[in-house]
Parts: sequence; structure tokens; C-alpha cells
Amino acid sequence: MTEQQLLDLMSQMSREDKVAQLLQIGGGCYEEDNVLTGPSEMYGVDEEVVYSLGSVINSTGAQKTKKIQDRYLKKSKLKIPLLFMSDIIYGFKTIFPIPLGMACTWDMSMVQESAKVAAKEAAVSGQHVTFSPMADLVRDARWGRVLEATGEDTYLNSEYVKAMVKGYQGKDLSSGENIAACVKHFAAYGAPVAGREYNTVDMSERVLRQDYLPAYKAAIDAGCEMVMTSFNLVDGIPSSGNKWLSRGILRNEWGFEGVLISDASAIEELVAHGVAEDKREAAKMAIEASVDIDMMSPVYIRHLKSLIEEGEVAEKLLDEAVLRILRLKNKLGLFENPYGGADEEREKEIILCKEHRDIARRIAAKSCVLFKNNGILPLQKTVKNIGLIGPYANNKDLYGGWAIHVDKEDVVTVQEGIRQKLQVGSIRIAKGSKLVSDELRIYPFGTIFKLESEADLDDKMLLEEAKEVASLSDVIILALGEHFLQSGEGGSRAELTLPEPQLELFREMKKFNKPLVVLLFNGRPLDLREIQEGADAILECWFPGTEGGNAVADLLFNDEMPSGKLTMTFPYCVGQVPIYYNEMRTGRPYKKEVQTRFASIYTDVPNEPLYPFGYGMSYTTFNYENMRLSHHVLEVGQIIKASCLVTNTGRYAGEEIVQLYIQDCVGSVARPVKELKGFKKIYLQPGETKEVVFDITEEMLKYYTASYVYKTEKGEFNVFIGKNSQTYLKQNFFYED
Ligand code: NOJ
Repeated sequence: MTEQQLLDLMSQMSREDKVAQLLQIGGGCYEEDNVLTGPSEMYGVDEEVVYSLGSVINSTGAQKTKKIQDRYLKKSKLKIPLLFMSDIIYGFKTIFPIPLGMACTWDMSMVQESAKVAAKEAAVSGQHVTFSPMADLVRDARWGRVLEATGEDTYLNSEYVKAMVKGYQGKDLSSGENIAACVKHFAAYGAPVAGREYNTVDMSERVLRQDYLPAYKAAIDAGCEMVMTSFNLVDGIPSSGNKWLSRGILRNEWGFEGVLISDASAIEELVAHGVAEDKREAAKMAIEASVDIDMMSPVYIRHLKSLIEEGEVAEKLLDEAVLRILRLKNKLGLFENPYGGADEEREKEIILCKEHRDIARRIAAKSCVLFKNNGILPLQKTVKNIGLIGPYANNKDLYGGWAIHVDKEDVVTVQEGIRQKLQVGSIRIAKGSKLVSDELRIYPFGTIFKLESEADLDDKMLLEEAKEVASLSDVIILALGEHFLQSGEGGSRAELTLPEPQLELFREMKKFNKPLVVLLFNGRPLDLREIQEGADAILECWFPGTEGGNAVADLLFNDEMPSGKLTMTFPYCVGQVPIYYNEMRTGRPYKKEVQTRFASIYTDVPNEPLYPFGYGMSYTTFNYENMRLSHHVLEVGQIIKASCLVTNTGRYAGEEIVQLYIQDCVGSVARPVKELKGFKKIYLQPGETKEVVFDITEEMLKYYTASYVYKTEKGEFNVFIGKNSQTYLKQNFFYED
């Protein structure tokens, strides 16, 4: 349709029709004949509204979505197709590693490829929009949704988000292969106080703009069609009613013209936050903040019309919101083809096809991070007796807490993966312990993920079985981790250790004094002190997705080389949290060589994390030397080339992620100790040396100065090229304007 046709369509819409476009509810209401079950009770709407509302959430499957669309269009007056939106966070049916894992690839073409696969599978299942990527910067491992985040770095986060948007949306939204992206949760949802889900966020505008906002903006600059609000406060006002944030920054400053959707019930929750007296006032706040779609709450549908009729809300705000939604439907080609890509035949052909599984397997392997290896890895395929022990030894829950469309049966377990590698040896399996203690307060994830009780399992028997297996083994592989519902939404934790039953299992296994490899499946950084001390090798596998078991086996037996590096710091213990590499300097920094009380230190634990940002080992080793800068003065419009030589000094070919950090030595406001500004992934044969070169531009040095101008201040800068945020070569230069 042309813009004029869209306007003509709008002119035929009554005020009720328009308000209905702003409502999003579950598609379940169209699936049965009694269409009003659910919505009528929850939202108090009649059949006319149900057949004129704008979008539905989390209804998938080509056949189902076509049926819903058919039924809807048959009865609807204006025949404006429904939009199908869904949470496709890291894969639709072919599940990729959780984003916190996928980010550890530092490989944006892989990230983009994963989103492309997800989009294809979702599109043929009738989806038009995904509620992804999540651009929330995170620094607190207690928060469960760090699983969906890409870590603590603004630059990396922005690169990742851009790649996801490109992967989902492709070049043509109406092609039937792409879906629209919705960046979330605008803004700063990743910084709840004390890591407790839905808790208050409180930060300075400087930190917000400098660290937290850029990734949302990067998504928008990449063409992201939608934005979702967050649940939290931003400067005292919840995002879903925060005019300064969404009308001011998002729309006016950044020029975002797409659809802004609230998070689920977030408009209604303005009342619970205590900023709106009632739902009517909540509706007024949200529409004035330019929130277009009310997700799963009855606020707009019940109150917008009367607010307009009584002159409290300008009609034009409603018209603007409706036009944005119609434009999106138009871009998706729904007026011409209301089914989008939905296609039962294509569903069978491409969902979980070999190509998609192969991509998922490769990405999963590249996501894993090797924390420790005293030489025991890689294993030989001729190894005789493997004891694979632990709650994740033979467990299909490798998909993490937000893969809500997964069919668990499609997941390859670790046991299955390893078995395929063995040439002669045998593998014995034991669960060894419960996943978590019975006392934990883990609840099911809506109706999607039920909780399987472990109450009937006998701890002693589990341990005896494990001991038996261990005694017959030449090498013990312990597959440990968090329950997959311990992270994700509603998955905050105050302790960051492995669950107690598993720690006990680990201690018992240690007593065998046999080679001990620990595989970890978890959705957040953990306190791994005890494991680091006692294991011979540790491989962080995150929740690796559908092909997890195969990918882990590939790594164990050197069919893939570990190359992942952390994008979120692993603390020494929970008391250090929030801990992140790009912290500010203090007036009294801690110096190892000076013993004084009056320095910024803990009296009981080190300042350093267990594993820093950027850290990850390989089966081979890399040496960095000969760092050079092409100039030591950067003048306006110029570039400095920063280079160093990286040599593979080990026995295997392998990939290395080379990282560039810069520190602004003196600023009109305090500047971080260093900030990531670039990275390169290189592949080296044993003995091979490559020169790695980064361009340093003035743009990279800009920040919000004391007067809030985004610019580079003159003075000295340190440059670091290294293998992680703590191990690097260093040079300096001066910027002169
Ligand atoms: C709430 C979550 O915060 C959001 O990320 C998700 O997209 C919506 N629910 C819809 O499921």
C-alpha cells in the first residue's frame, strides 16, 4: 500500500477500531470457537474488539496462524491483518546458545547468521516480529536475565545487537523469510538494584547515556522496526510512561519512527509503581510517552477512548500510534499477503534442517569458554573408560530459560555427543546428584516450562552410583550447572555458587584423584573458586542449545578448538558484584606493592575477579609482542594504526580474539580504566605469526564531557592490545585538536 492508501484506510476507522489496533493479547482467543474466553474476562472486551485488535503474542505454527488470520479476517470489518509477534530470543526451534554465550564468540557474522536462521524458521511458522534483540547492558550476575544479555561492554553489546537486527530483518521484510526485530527493554532494565528482578534502576544520566543507551541506539540505527519498553524506573519514572525517555530521547533525539510496544502489563503496572493513580491515568501517561502497543494489559482498550472524548488526550496521539502500526504491517507485506511466510511445507523442510543444526553446532562450539586446562584436554578418541557424571550428563535441558518454542526432544545431550566420538572406549553415566536442593524457590515459567520434581530421588543412591562409575573410569567428566530455571526472567539469585548437591558431588569426585574435567551449563557468571582450585580442566558451555551435546564433544576431542572469550566478568565471589572491567578509577587505588589500610580494597577477598572480561583459553597458546603505534599524536581527521604481532606458540592451529582497549588518562569527568574499542579474530597455524592492526580514530575517543557535549578532549590516551582485559601490551598517544 502507498502511504496515501494507509491514510485512507485510517480515515475509515472509528475511534474504537483505532484503539483496538493498540491492543496485544494471546492468540488463544481465536483458536477455539468460544472466541471470547480469556479476553472477555481479562480485558472486558466484546467480540467486535477481538476482531479488530492489532496483534497477538506467542501463537506459532503455520497452520495455526493461518487459521487464526483467516478467522480474524473473515469477521473483521476493515480486514486489517493481525500481526503475530513472539519471543524468539536465540533461535526458534533450532536453538542457539544463550546470548551471553553467543556473545563469547565475538563473531558478529555468526551472530547474524543465527538470527537469520531464527527468522527463517519463525517466518515459515507464521511469525512477523520477534521480541529480540535484548540490548540491556549487564554488570550484575545476580540478575537472571544476564542470560539474554551480551555482557558488560557497551561496544560489544552494540555490535551484537546490530548483527541480530540485520540477521532478523534482512533486506526485505515482506520476503517471507525475514521478521521484524524489536529491541528491548528500553531502557536500562539490566541494572536492577541488587540484581533482583523488576527492582528499581537508579543511575545518573551520564552513565545512562554513556554506557546503557548506545546499544538500543545501535539497533535503531541498524533499522530495527520496533522497541519495547522496560519494567523499571528511569530517573524515577517507569519507562512505559516516561515521556522524557521515549518521546524525548527515543523519538525526538534519535528519530525513531517505528512502533514502541510496552513490556507485558507494564502500562498497567504504572499504578503499582505509584506514579499513576489508576489505570486511566496510566493510559494517559503511556500514550503521551508515545507507547503504541499495550502488551497484555487492558489499559488502552478500556480508557483511551474516553480520555480522548473527554479532552484529556489529544486524538492525534492515537492517530500517530495507529499509523505506525499500519506502516509496520505494510512493510511486512501483510495487506497483500496476510499469512506472511507461513507455510506448512516449508516448515517441514527447514525447521531443524541439517544446515540449521550444523550452524547451531558450530556457534555453540565457538561460544564455549575454556577456563582451565592443565593439559588433560583435548581427550583422545581412543580413551578407554570415560565416567560421565552429573545432572547434565544425560539431560536435554540444554536450551536455557528463554527458548520457549523449543521441543526438548530435539536437543542432543552431552552423553549422545560424546558417544559418537569414541572409537574404542566405553562411557558410563551417572547423574550423581540432584540438580538443586529441594528448598530452593524455583517456580515454573508460566505454562511453558514445568518444574520436574527431584524430591523422590535419593541423594545417597545417586552418589553411590557416581562413585561406582568414577572407580571404573580413567577420566571423569563432570557435567554440572544451574537449573535452567535459575536464570532467565524471574531468575535472580543471591548466591552465585553451583547448587549445593552438585558441590558435594564435586568434592566426592575429587577424592578419586583421577583426571577431572568439569563442564558447566549455566546462564550467568558463577562463583567457581572451588571448581577452579580442584578441577583439571573447566569448560564453560553455557546453555548451548539444540546441538549442545555435539558441540561440547567436538571441543573435548579437538574437532573444534576452544576460542570463546568472556563478555561478562566472573567474580571471585558474590560480594564483588557488580564487578566489570571498565570501572572508574578511585582516588585511592589499590597497588599490590603498597600495604595500606587506606586503599580501595576488600579485607577478605581479592579485588580481582576469578576470570576477567575478555578471558578464555585455547588448546594452543598465543604470544603477543612488538606493539607499535604509527603516530604518537592524533590530529583531527587522522588515524593512528595500532599493531602488534601475535604468534601461535602451541601445538595446534587455533583462533585468537585480539582485543583493543583505550584509556582516556585525564578527562573533564572521570574516565574508565579502559574501554574496549575494537577486536579481531585471527586464525593461526602452529608457529605462524600475524600482524594485527587496528585503526584508532577520533570518533572512538568521544564521550559526554562535563558540559554534556559528546566530543574528544585533548590529552593523553593509553592503548592496550591484549588477549583479555588484564593481559596486554601498552602504548600511549596524545590527541590534539
Ligand atoms: C516479558 C519480558 O520482559 C519480555 O522480554 C518479553 O518479550 C515479554 N514478556 C513477552 O513475552
